[in-house]
Amino acid sequence: MSKETLTIIDNRTGREYEFPLIDGNLRTADLRQIKIAPDDFGVMGYDPAFMNTASCRSQITLIDGDRGILRYRGYPIEELAEKCSFLEVAWLLLNGELPSDTQLSEWVDEITHHTMLHETTRKFLEGFRYDAHPMSMLMSTVAALSTVYKDARNIFDPQGRHRNIVRLIAKMPTMAAYAYRHSRGFPYVYPDNDLTYAENFMNMLWRMVEPKYVANPTLARAIDVLFILHADHEQNCSTNVMRSVGSSHADPFAAVAGAIGALSGPLHGGANEQVLKMLDEIGPKANVPAYIRKVKNGECKLMGFGHRVYKNYDPRARIIKQTADEVFEVTGRNPKLETALELERIALEDDYFVTRKLYPNVDFYSGLIYQAVGFQPEMFTVLFAIPRTVGWLAQWQEMLLDPETKIARPRQVYTGYPLRDVGSMEEPEAETVMA
Ligand code: CMC
Repeated sequence: MSKETLTIIDNRTGREYEFPLIDGNLRTADLRQIKIAPDDFGVMGYDPAFMNTASCRSQITLIDGDRGILRYRGYPIEELAEKCSFLEVAWLLLNGELPSDTQLSEWVDEITHHTMLHETTRKFLEGFRYDAHPMSMLMSTVAALSTVYKDARNIFDPQGRHRNIVRLIAKMPTMAAYAYRHSRGFPYVYPDNDLTYAENFMNMLWRMVEPKYVANPTLARAIDVLFILHADHEQNCSTNVMRSVGSSHADPFAAVAGAIGALSGPLHGGANEQVLKMLDEIGPKANVPAYIRKVKNGECKLMGFGHRVYKNYDPRARIIKQTADEVFEVTGRNPKLETALELERIALEDDYFVTRKLYPNVDFYSGLIYQAVGFQPEMFTVLFAIPRTVGWLAQWQEMLLDPETKIARPRQVYTGYPLRDVGSMEEPEAETVMA
């Protein structure tokens, strides 16, 4: 019978080590037993960018990148996007099961009644420059919430933790809408408790002088579906930041602010804004082959293409393409769609992209929908941050309750100078030290 172990021979000493495999994986801490002398530090795993390192065990989201599969708590993303609302999915991610009717109505009621911002926070937002990026305003405002909710530091009190999870999910659309209104110079619109999560967001963004905002149901549903698709994506860059900051027992507002910072980068959530800028730069469809040549020459990247985990079509991109058709029925076709479709067509046939398994990701089409609905590109990443807050909080809570959690603290391979004197002009050779 095969054993669930791994045997490693150290060719420096000829010694043999047998390590257990847990769920088929090696605990890299076991490698420390491999030493050439008793005072040797032992062998570490060297894995910049965590290309092959699992940082936690999680029951929340499954991605099978080779088969293009994404599931939340076991449910396929396609079914959730078709049959559920965003707040149902939020409950699922946080609690592990879909809510009953009673649980759902209580949950919706709770979120609806925590959408208001403390007036000091609203005034805080007013202090930003008129041309501040909405993502920077959102990040700073979320961080500022910890000045209002001091109970947020009691992260091991289940009720307090729940209260602050509710506050964050409920207030994200309010802060996002206020950041947008601030950049336009429009007065802030208070939440309307008669509306759904997506409709209320639209109300806070776009209501002008009309007494009651009425959302277009197709556009409100499209925003809800996009929120479902963006709600979680296991251990991506920003979620890793959320867990890492949270592992020091910082409050959830500090951890979410950190995660928003990570999401804002163009290689992560910021890619959706960059896709639109790229489509603007390319211009008409006829210019696509020349742009593809630039990408292949290494002059630029095709934004919205490629993914660390998906090496097959991103399933979210497929759903977004369908949603785009429904939205364009209402708004008219986004003129950039032709260029985007041509880029996709050429890239999917081109050897450069095929051999590297580069396919459109979630960000490739989402910006076209957002623009058609009426958002400026600067708001696109903010639209990603609102739903991803749910995933961040679910992962944060799972981390806090996991008995294996310790403060996140990677090792390094030191490649700098060995000990030297300030007075000495000599520069000794760099050495490698584990620490
Ligand atoms: N355009 C052109 N070439 C690319 C692209 C691209 N978008 N993405 C990867 N490559 C090439 C890359 O140059 C490398 O080629 P080579 O082997 O010749 O050096 C090869 O493909 C492997 O790429 P990598 O950079 O090692 O892959 P990674 O897993 O480290 O990076 C990525 C993943 C998403 C950062 C990257 O594909 C990328 O920068 N894409 C564009 C930005 C983007 O759309 N980001 C959104 C990701 S999905 C949503 C999210 O996570 O927020």
